[in-house]
Amino acid sequence: MKKLRKKIIAGNWKMNKTTADAASLAEGLKLELGDCLDVDIVLCPPFTALSAVSGIIDDCHMKLGAQDMHWESEGAYTGEISSGMLRDLYCNYVILGHSERRAYFGETNETVNKKVKAAIAATLIPIVCVGETLEQRESGTTEAVVRDQVENSLAGLDDDLAKIVVAYEPVWAIGTGLTATPDQAQDVHAFIRKLLAEIGGSDIADGVRIQYGGSMKPANAAELLEKQDIDGGLIGGAALDVRSFAEIVKAAM
Ligand code: 13P
Repeated sequence: MKKLRKKIIAGNWKMNKTTADAASLAEGLKLELGDCLDVDIVLCPPFTALSAVSGIIDDCHMKLGAQDMHWESEGAYTGEISSGMLRDLYCNYVILGHSERRAYFGETNETVNKKVKAAIAATLIPIVCVGETLEQRESGTTEAVVRDQVENSLAGLDDDLAKIVVAYEPVWAIGTGLTATPDQAQDVHAFIRKLLAEIGGSDIADGVRIQYGGSMKPANAAELLEKQDIDGGLIGGAALDVRSFAEIVKAAM
């Protein structure tokens, strides 16, 4: 049966691009992709460039996302950004629990869970990231790790489970040039959908989009995206260039 889920391609620009560089990338992407309605396209620049990119894409179909947020709405949390601040800049999405935040900045399933709930309360769509390290894959614990991340990052959502996007990003494939094969990725995506069904029932699980992330590029996007449970991509390096990001989006059409 053909999938009914609309594909979603998001560019995670990570800690790259000054305001001027981000604006020029956004302008270039708007020319190529601004009219696209077949695929949901999300640009996630660094916080400092959100405002500039927001102003550029506000008259086209691309959406804005942030790369993280705090769960509190305001207060004495030096260096943090709240959901309301993101909404104020017309963000629609926020990446949460990226493996780089988990590995370098102490993000845990518990903090991700608080952030997911705060994002949904602010009508932001969380893109919740999960994925195993190379060591975990090689020791055969991929499913246990992903189960722990999914169950605990998404605990207590009930029907709000329908309001999220999940990104499966095997840590060993991020920025390494190594990509999960389409079959490897599909296996984990199907497993994640099974977990979502256990949590929220199969109707909700069937509607949740699960992106793949980890060295996705024009050369491998089509074969990944044609898999039954791969509903899009969360793109790092290849999102920093108009041509490569546009080609990935076209592979999703
Ligand atoms: P790369 O596409 O650079 O491997 O990064 C993937 C990623 O981490 C997206 O969030």
